[in-house]
Amino acid sequence: MQCLRTLILIGAIMLPLTSVAAYAGAPADDVANGRRLAEKNCSRCHAVGLNGSSPHREAPPFRTIAARGHVDDLQEALAEGIVVGHPDMPEFAFQPEEIDEFLSYLKSLAASDK
Ligand code: HEC
Repeated sequence: MQCLRTLILIGAIMLPLTSVAAYAGAPADDVANGRRLAEKNCSRCHAVGLNGSSPHREAPPFRTIAARGHVDDLQEALAEGIVVGHPDMPEFAFQPEEIDEFLSYLKSLAASDK
C-alpha cells in the first residue's frame, strides 16, 4: 500500500514536469526529420540551412521565412499543398506529421538565428 502511494505521488510530480518539457520545444526528432524533408524536397531551390543563398534566386531562404515569425501560418498552406502563385514553385502535399516536423525545423532556424 505504501508503495502504491509513493508511486502515485511520483506520478503526480512527474506529470506536470513532462508536460512543461513538451512545451519548451519540439522534440529533437521532429527538427531532424523536418530538416531531412526540407533538404530532400526544397533545397533544390531554397537555402534550407542557416547560411548560404538559395539556388533559385527568387526563392527566399528558409531562415528568412522563419525569421518573419509567422511559421504557424504556413501550416494550412502546407496541408493544402503550397501554392504561392509562382510557376517555379511546385505543389507539395505534406502529411500532417510531416508538417509538424517541417514547422519544428523552421522554428529551430528562427531560434538559432538570433
Ligand atoms: C523548383 C523550385 C522550388 C522548390 C523545389 C521549392 N520552392 Fe518554395 N518557392 C520557390 C520560389 C521561386 C518561391 C518564390 C515565389 C514567389 O515569391 O512568387 C518560393 C516560395 C516559397 C514560400 C513562400 C515564401 C514567402 O515569401 O512567403 C514558401 C513557404 C515555400 N516556397 C516553401 C517551400 C517548401 C516547404 C518547399 C519544399 C517542400 C519548397 N518551397 C520547394 C521555388 C521552389
